[in-house]
Amino acid sequence: MSPSVPIPTRRVFSGAQPTGAMHLGNYLGAFRNWVRLQQSYECLYCVVDLHAITVWQDPKTLADQTRRAAAAFIAAGVDPKRSILFNQSQVAAHSELAWIFNCVARVGWLNRMTQFKDKAGKNRERASVGLYVYPTLMAADILAYKATHVPVGEDQKQHLELTRDIAARFNQDFGAEVFPLVEPVIFGPGARVMSLRDGTKKMSKSDPSDASRINLTDDADAIARKIRRAKTDPEPLPDSATGLEGRPEAANLVGIFAALADRTVDDVLGEFAGKGFAEFKNALAELAVATLGPITEEMLRLERDPAVIDRILADGAERAAAMAAPVLAEVRHVVGFLDPRHGRR
Ligand code: TYM
Repeated sequence: MSPSVPIPTRRVFSGAQPTGAMHLGNYLGAFRNWVRLQQSYECLYCVVDLHAITVWQDPKTLADQTRRAAAAFIAAGVDPKRSILFNQSQVAAHSELAWIFNCVARVGWLNRMTQFKDKAGKNRERASVGLYVYPTLMAADILAYKATHVPVGEDQKQHLELTRDIAARFNQDFGAEVFPLVEPVIFGPGARVMSLRDGTKKMSKSDPSDASRINLTDDADAIARKIRRAKTDPEPLPDSATGLEGRPEAANLVGIFAALADRTVDDVLGEFAGKGFAEFKNALAELAVATLGPITEEMLRLERDPAVIDRILADGAERAAAMAAPVLAEVRHVVGFLDPRHGRR
């Protein structure tokens, strides 16, 4: 019989899709927190290529996009020696556990997922089945390692609630405390970075307007130009956060400044209250270039040597697979699958 794998106290899992240029939202909402958590948690960071193919990906570019995403993680500060960095498709445990979770999650739960509704749009009948069950794979990513903490942007909150529901339901149905209830790690003004063209829409890889986002591959000129042209309103900056209510574009730019500078929104407004956007945008552009410039440079350097990235991902996948294997053995046993290699039930 498989022994049960103890639930760790401080294990982090998170991931990002290799579906286009990584942007400031990914950095402030996720990567930056991933880097900080490495100090005190055991961390796994994953390029989720299985999630990427829930919408069509050109097979000729997927591998390069996967390397590019890994380069972005490392350039942002993920240390592949300290943390486990790998791409999802190399570790079969994710797909296997996702199938089992498809049989635990209820159709009603998935029907409530707003991201599916947004991504599938009006043409739901033509969306892939994979897009529909996307959150069960996400639960499997996390729980294959019994991870306890998941640092993400605000947009992933509902998926993490579903992960908790799946874990609780599995534990209850099978009468065993196999999975932890994960804690979302979502905080600060960087948790929801909005489009530079429309402060009510999330900054996103899939926005057709490149001016709506700051890509981690943008050079200093492009960053400054996009910030200078970002939509604003005609009022000067208020003196406290409450004065930003009903001003989504102003709130977004001040939030980005605060997140980049690691200051509170009120603190930033203390400095810029009463000033116009021209002056504020110049200061923001300078700050963004100073923070992102070294990351862009490092990404470009890493991308020149794909073999190094491939070795890092292969090593990470090996370590991840070794960590997931006993968890999957435990799950198979608990579910009741015949597995003579691990002894009779
Ligand atoms: P993805 O690839 O869309 O985004 C990667 C991370 O970036 C965050 N993010 C943002 N944060 C703030 N403002 C924004 N505008 C913004 N845009 C993106 C996301 O919240 C995310 O943290 N489903 C996930 C990937 C995933 C995952 C997982 C995450 C798959 N399995 C397991 C955690 C745990 C996604 O599509 O992220």
